[in-house]
Amino acid sequence: MNRTALQCLPDGGKDGERLAAQLGVPVHEIAVHRFPDGELRVTAGPAAATTIIYAPLHQPNEKLLAILFAAEALRREGTKRLVLVAPYLCYMRQDAVFHGGEAISQRVVGALLAKTVDRVITVDAHLHRTNTLQGVFPGIEADNLAAMPVIADALQATSLDPATVVVGPDAESRQWVSDLAGRLGLAHLVAEKKRHSDRSVSISFADPAILAGRPVLLVDDIASSGGTLISCAKALAEVGAMAVDVIVTHALFPADTTDALLRAGIRSVRSTHTVPHPTNAIRLDGILSAALRPEIGGEETA
Ligand code: R5P
Repeated sequence: MNRTALQCLPDGGKDGERLAAQLGVPVHEIAVHRFPDGELRVTAGPAAATTIIYAPLHQPNEKLLAILFAAEALRREGTKRLVLVAPYLCYMRQDAVFHGGEAISQRVVGALLAKTVDRVITVDAHLHRTNTLQGVFPGIEADNLAAMPVIADALQATSLDPATVVVGPDAESRQWVSDLAGRLGLAHLVAEKKRHSDRSVSISFADPAILAGRPVLLVDDIASSGGTLISCAKALAEVGAMAVDVIVTHALFPADTTDALLRAGIRSVRSTHTVPHPTNAIRLDGILSAALRPEIGGEETA
């Protein structure tokens, strides 16, 4: 049995393979077969003493089940330590009851995964009312890695106009926006957002004067339907911003929504590879492999 190996959910293929190569560990794909009635058969292995499951958790419902099934197979075959790398962590936004009767899905998913694996590693988890990832995953190790330092390094290597204003679409984006702007030495501004429905929001700026004639870097952790970015780009055009480039950590929107973003006046859209997406431009391999390094090492076991 190998000491450490990486198992990828089908969606994680290329990114998981690259990570395994960096770590120097074998990589295998977890096979997920869907029966005609919708049930899943999951085949995982060969088990290693420490098994890392790489699973970008966009479109998460079946993937969560696949992780539970894979964990059962791997533990039974001898895995002692299971580490889940979910570069995008699902169900973090429903962290409270917003309307009577709603489930707090963050709490349910957190408890389920905490019973299944020994450690969770993610990137820019959407933590708002639950302040820490430890609070989401009671009793296990949990690491919330930061993408903004990597994004800042990537941007520093480009010719960024020093007049650029880093803009966030809502109060929840303040942490990312102020961090990135601070690293780049740029001004920043956070808009006010009102959500009307899943896909419709309105955006306004308390102090739009700073934006007139200046390039904008529009930054958020998640673009889900893309509605927030579209409304924000339109609002930025109305107040005279010059050009809008977008950077998000997690690009969840369908690939063809990118055209709608460009039609709304956005010049470019870049994302990290936490979710495999055509806009992926910034790799986080360095921070992921550094976080996983302590899991590697020692002799192969018999
Ligand atoms: C919300 O708090 C998040 O940071 C994003 O702003 C939100 O998920 C974006 O959603 P959408 O793209 O559907 O407007």
